[in-house]
Amino acid sequence: MCLRIMKSFIIWLFIHVYFSSGRTIESCHNESEIDKIEMGIVISPLMSTEMIREIGIYWKNINIQTGDVIKLFKGDPSTKNKQEIFQFMPVKARGFQKTGISADFVPTSNLTYHEQCLQYYVSWITNDAIKKTTCLSTHPNWMGQRKTNLGQLKMKDIFIPGTHDSAAYSKLLNFKSEMLVDKYTITQDEDILAQLIYGTRYLDIRVGRYPNNKMIFWGNHGLIRIVPLQNVIDDVKLFLGNTDEIVIFDVQEFPVGFKSIAAHNELLNYLEREFHGYYLERPINVWRTTLEDIWSTGKRLIISYDYASIVSSSLSVWPQVEQQWGNVRTLDDLYTHLNGIETKAGEENSYTSRLGKPRAAMAQLTPTTFDVIFNRLGGLRLMAENVDMHITEWYSEVWQHTANVVAVDFIKATGIIETAIKWNDKRISGCYTNLDYS
Ligand SMILES: *[C@@H]1O[C@H](CO)[C@@H](O)[C@H](O)[C@H]1NC(C)=O
Ligand SMILES: *[C@@H]1O[C@H](CO)[C@@H](O)[C@H](O)[C@H]1NC(C)=O
Repeated sequence: MCLRIMKSFIIWLFIHVYFSSGRTIESCHNESEIDKIEMGIVISPLMSTEMIREIGIYWKNINIQTGDVIKLFKGDPSTKNKQEIFQFMPVKARGFQKTGISADFVPTSNLTYHEQCLQYYVSWITNDAIKKTTCLSTHPNWMGQRKTNLGQLKMKDIFIPGTHDSAAYSKLLNFKSEMLVDKYTITQDEDILAQLIYGTRYLDIRVGRYPNNKMIFWGNHGLIRIVPLQNVIDDVKLFLGNTDEIVIFDVQEFPVGFKSIAAHNELLNYLEREFHGYYLERPINVWRTTLEDIWSTGKRLIISYDYASIVSSSLSVWPQVEQQWGNVRTLDDLYTHLNGIETKAGEENSYTSRLGKPRAAMAQLTPTTFDVIFNRLGGLRLMAENVDMHITEWYSEVWQHTANVVAVDFIKATGIIETAIKWNDKRISGCYTNLDYS
């Protein structure tokens, strides 16, 4: 009897220690100085007659010595075929530097399903020796590469980089002078396939329905239709077919042509037909489903749908992802908004009985009608330029433990993909307590 109790106690102790603080000491707080450094390349969404795709460099946690330089290379600096194109002397441990260098246009057809460096590299150099290098990289299989470890996490516990209004893209080779409408419509500068290959896993899709058009369904931004939904769907299927990634296709808002339930059913049927064999039926646990469970079904597309009657009538869609909008116009207000939702998420995570609800932190400013009419905020590109680096910083230093889906404008102007990958790695290392292993 006594022995049995002892035995269960020991098992309990083992499980407890193993799953709680056990791994903290060795692996979590002992990163090397080099590992701690974050350094990367971002691409500005701004464009003018003089400049498009300007390269920016961010760095942090660098222990700078007098005389250190940060250099930008075209080509791998450890090889012969490199060209030094920019350099500067950082004075602080962290910062952001614009370069005045325009990144080459990368057609989507140049991207592959293997992680690749896209020509540009940044190195921190002390006494002419390279201490650390990173490159502008794609992340087409960051989930699949971590399948064994990431599998234990629930959808609600993984940090998922996303794009806001994903189909409102315009992939431009050269400068285009934008009409006021474009300035407040275009939110992304990569098509859907490229967004996914860069590492995005949450797509925010607004659908317009045009029954008299040859293409009935479109990806819209508000009343403006941007790209046939078919193109978006084809890109998602192509990506899923070539990778082992899990993608959330969140159908949000129906700005044109959805006055009747019949219209919704027509869209639902279209999505079911087009994504046949790809989508995963809504499981009972919804957002508390683990990635492992998703992978085990062989279906890796989650279609969520922003209309309760459709969700209750069909298992092929998941409940809408609750988009957490601040509707704010300044950086300070955006911080306050995001801080509010992430703090609340942290608190809710401690109640393990809570049925996880899909949510997405919307990390951008929202113009008012008058802002648009008088172009008071300078357009979405400028607004993204002004917030994107801050979002990355906040999500790597303040809300890295609670972040779930984070959706941004012009994703290449942020480091949110690298930040999400890094913090998912830390979450699966078991060091951080905010997770719910129930
Ligand atoms: C921390 O890292 C250092 C150097 O990498 C190593 O010597 C040391 O044993 C590590 N400490 C722990 C507790 O793992
Ligand atoms: C894209 O691919 C083509 C053909 O392989 C190559 O010539 C070109 O340099 C590539 N462009 C970039 C920006 O990588």
